[in-house]
Amino acid sequence: MSPDRTGTAPFGTVHPIPADWGVHRIPDLSGKLAVVTGGNTGLGLATARELARAGANVVLAVRSTERGAVAAAEIARTAPRSRLEVRRLDLADLSSVRDFAERLLDDHPALDLLVNNAGIMAVPRRTTADGFESQFGVNHLGHYALTGRLLPALGAATAARVVTVSSDLHTLGRLDFRDLQSKRHYGRLRAYGNSKLANLLFTAELDRRAAAAGLALRAYAVHPGFVATSLATTGRPLLVRLLVAVPHTIVAVRPSTGALPALCAATLPGLPGGLYLGPRGRSGIRGAPAVLAPHPRARDHASALRLWEVSQSLTAVRYDFSSATRVPNTPMP
Ligand SMILES: NC(=O)c1ccc[n+]([C@@H]2O[C@H](COP(=O)([O-])OP(=O)(O)OC[C@H]3O[C@@H](n4cnc5c(N)ncnc54)[C@H](OP(=O)(O)O)[C@@H]3O)[C@@H](O)[C@H]2O)c1
Repeated sequence: MSPDRTGTAPFGTVHPIPADWGVHRIPDLSGKLAVVTGGNTGLGLATARELARAGANVVLAVRSTERGAVAAAEIARTAPRSRLEVRRLDLADLSSVRDFAERLLDDHPALDLLVNNAGIMAVPRRTTADGFESQFGVNHLGHYALTGRLLPALGAATAARVVTVSSDLHTLGRLDFRDLQSKRHYGRLRAYGNSKLANLLFTAELDRRAAAAGLALRAYAVHPGFVATSLATTGRPLLVRLLVAVPHTIVAVRPSTGALPALCAATLPGLPGGLYLGPRGRSGIRGAPAVLAPHPRARDHASALRLWEVSQSLTAVRYDFSSATRVPNTPMP
């Protein structure tokens, strides 16, 4: 991590995110449609809740529609203006991603905001339905495929945004293109770092390609900080859960705080695309959202291009920017 964690925008200027940025600054989102993956719990639930409170209609894209319905009922209590939908999405299965996207496109011609939030961390090596290493498959390839399949609706919105939840642990990642599925060497944290590095490379390339195609779509990546969620405890032995409970109680922030970088990236007017946002504090744990500097490996254009091509061939999802609606020179909201 660089000593000064506050980064610069691609154009060499530090983008002025107000130091007191918080949910009170979220503009009215009435009439906007947002999809939040993993919106049933943790950061996804906190993000969906604030978007709904600001008036957006929110689709909770979740593995379990039962858990999703419980979350939707909870959100509805504080966001009576919002229309909430619960739809099934399993990012570990490309046929589920395709079905989700096809149904969404059938029902919604335009999508204003996609929050690629769902994720798994440091799990034992497993494979997805399509044979991908699960962290790379769920955290990166599933979201690559989802975003590509939703591109027609994102392109049809006036100024859509795609926010992908990465992590400062992307610094642990080192993509080995000869072994992207970590068949030869598997380290749980290294594979997590690889998937989060892929989130950042994907974001940079998506933003570049959308801009080159004349689309008013912007892409952002975020680091939420250290947040007390079930990410590090799901499926873990009791001892690990007890050990994690200590830093969760003493150091970690709540999901409502951890969601701020994603909410800021999703809604701050005029934010240049391609940025990486996270907590302002030097520890990377807490603080109002600021623009951060990702690791140089996350800024490597050649890696971003190569990852895009490999993701396209692995998922068979080709982004068709030319058929997405063009909105030439539309100012950012
Ligand atoms: N917590 C932190 O400190 C931290 C720090 C940096 C980055 N992050 C990132 O923040 C994001 C959200 O994590 P969290 O902390 O909120 O964890 P969480 O509470 O464990 O939530 C993870 C969400 O992802 C969903 N999910 C997992 N596998 C899925 C799949 N195959 N298909 C669809 N959804 C799936 C989970 O669904 P189920 O409820 O069905 O399991 C859950 O909704 C992740 O991308 C994570 O890498 C978190």
